[in-house]
Amino acid sequence: MIVCHCQHITDRDIHGAINWMREADAKAIITPRKVYRALGKSPDCGSCMSLFLSTMRKNTNLEVPVELRGLRQATASKGKINAG
Ligand code: FES
Repeated sequence: MIVCHCQHITDRDIHGAINWMREADAKAIITPRKVYRALGKSPDCGSCMSLFLSTMRKNTNLEVPVELRGLRQATASKGKINAG
């Protein structure tokens, strides 16, 4: 299925790029911009972004790794230590 008509990107292209990035870096935070870059393209009109994101969210490899999930909390705790 074509997701981005401007750049002719399919759902399979998106999933392939996400899987490739996850395999290359287990800690990568994968964004739409990174998917475009991995495919050697860049967004044009942007009207596909909601479908692009929902397609990305269907990929189980998109998930942020567990070790990065507590980063905000760890940073906030560190700030309290420095402030107090
Ligand atoms: S349809 Fe994707 S950038 Fe235009």
